[in-house]
Amino acid sequence: MCGIIGYIGNKEAQSILLSSLGRLEYRGYDSCGIAVASSSIKVYKDAVRVEPLAKAMPQLSGTIGIGHTRWATHGKPSQANAHPHCDCQDKIAVVHNGIISNFHLLKQKLISEGHNFTSETDTEVIPHLIEKYYDGDLEKAVETALHQVKGSYAIIVLAADETKLIVAKKDSPLIIGIGDRENFIASDVPAILDYTNRVIYLEDGDIGVVTSDEIRIKKEGREVDRKEHKILWSVEDAQKAGYEHFMLKEIHEQPKVIRDTLGEYAQATEPNVDLERIRDAGIESILILACGTSYHAALIGKYIVEELLRIPVRVEIASELNYYGQIPAGTLAIAITQSGETADILRAMKRLKGVGGRVLAIINVVGSSASRIADQTIYTRAGPEISVAATKSFIAQLMVLYWLMMSYSKVDARRLASMLLGLREMPGKVQQVLDNEDKILECARYLSAYENVFFIGRGINFPVALEGALKLKEISYIHAEGYAAGELKHGPFALLGPDAPVIAIVTQDNTYEAMLANIKEIKARGSPLIALAKEEDGTIEELADSVITVPKVDAIFSPVVNTIALQLLAYYTAKERGCPIDFPRNLAKSVTVE
Ligand code: AGP
Repeated sequence: MCGIIGYIGNKEAQSILLSSLGRLEYRGYDSCGIAVASSSIKVYKDAVRVEPLAKAMPQLSGTIGIGHTRWATHGKPSQANAHPHCDCQDKIAVVHNGIISNFHLLKQKLISEGHNFTSETDTEVIPHLIEKYYDGDLEKAVETALHQVKGSYAIIVLAADETKLIVAKKDSPLIIGIGDRENFIASDVPAILDYTNRVIYLEDGDIGVVTSDEIRIKKEGREVDRKEHKILWSVEDAQKAGYEHFMLKEIHEQPKVIRDTLGEYAQATEPNVDLERIRDAGIESILILACGTSYHAALIGKYIVEELLRIPVRVEIASELNYYGQIPAGTLAIAITQSGETADILRAMKRLKGVGGRVLAIINVVGSSASRIADQTIYTRAGPEISVAATKSFIAQLMVLYWLMMSYSKVDARRLASMLLGLREMPGKVQQVLDNEDKILECARYLSAYENVFFIGRGINFPVALEGALKLKEISYIHAEGYAAGELKHGPFALLGPDAPVIAIVTQDNTYEAMLANIKEIKARGSPLIALAKEEDGTIEELADSVITVPKVDAIFSPVVNTIALQLLAYYTAKERGCPIDFPRNLAKSVTVE
């Protein structure tokens, strides 16, 4: 996601635009820019954050302008790819938040009609489309242009010699802040709270004409009246969309992240990576490498690949791979990294490349260092993840792994169809977990009194136990360990007792009976036991001290709903213990040192 801003009024636009963009950097920060209109349009943009851009920027005079801070989706962070984007004559400038899914076709047609493009972005087709239809009626030209566009957008359009801004919204947020002889347009409330707390929320299909003293909104050609709201939040609250912490906001964004990530790829007729080499000669095995939470995604990936592709998979901690182990010829390596900047991963990727390995990367940050080392990159669509604890980026990594391996799977058509249905239902299943927060909060309050906790799981949920333990330890500072359930009796049993609660991840698959046996053994040693289990699992209710129910999904997808329940458990336990949560002690969002 990106942040967009527009200003029209009686003050110089530049400082207002820059200050507002600074308030939107939590939405994306790999590049930014502004455009100010007077008799011509002056644009200043670069692949930097807002502060250095403001320092380097000359005075751009004018009382109408637009601005953008970017989270790259199409085209790496660069000056050329930064917004605003203009038409051929630099008479129209546009800022955009969203994804134009049919931009390739539109761009080819516009080029054949003589338009020249300067960026790799999807957005740049919009000003050229408006130019194509502009005959003096800017609003009409924007409306006609948007009829050609598929995908999501929140846009603000600025034109030279026009004392108005045109705005339009579909699937991406856009608001109008109402001032005194001035008006503001923005992706989100934090951008305008320094100037006004009077806000109109645009709805999908709205197209608005905004001047310094008038706001007209139309939908399907008819004028509509959008209600004015008064915002009572502080700027900081608003950046978290009213959630107390970024982590909770990002946990709750996960249904949308699943839709965005699958939507981006599920539309592709053919996956745009050459895993064909897996199916054909050449690849005897797959090596997946990562660190931390991404390593847990890699471990889940192992189960996915082995079930769907029936190919042996090796999963390595990147920092270990740097110092040992042979890398057989013909290895396809998959590097998973949210930030794309983790030093351990970068070094391992370079080592793999050095021995002739092919490296496919799954990354959340477009244009990051790992994307420049990998032979091919698949981007997750999680948007910027501010909280140090990885949550939505992890789920997005799983979505890419499911989609990728399903695209090349050897399972029969019926199973594949059932899995595709399961993925389509996933946002709703995740929402059910999120709606069960009260029960999880109750368990968190209980757990917060302990200093040592075990998480146990089997099969594809063993990595979920590891991830649940990592989440808890990194934000609540409780010592938590994830274990293969069957392994507990080989030593850790010595630690069980009233002071060592166990979180058991129970899935109704072939491990169910074994898990019941483990739970009975654990209870016999006096440990409190919280179970994650499917709804209506009466047996578990009798055995466990407390049950967090999760919706029933295909066993291969159970890590998604189980992990999200454990994210919430960790969050509320840390909150109960008064921990800072978003920025835990001693940790960093991107570990750029070995
Ligand atoms: C997870 O919550 C932690 N923030 C950490 O373990 C993280 O997953 C690890 O540093 C890897 O980061 P990356 O995905 O950006 O490479």
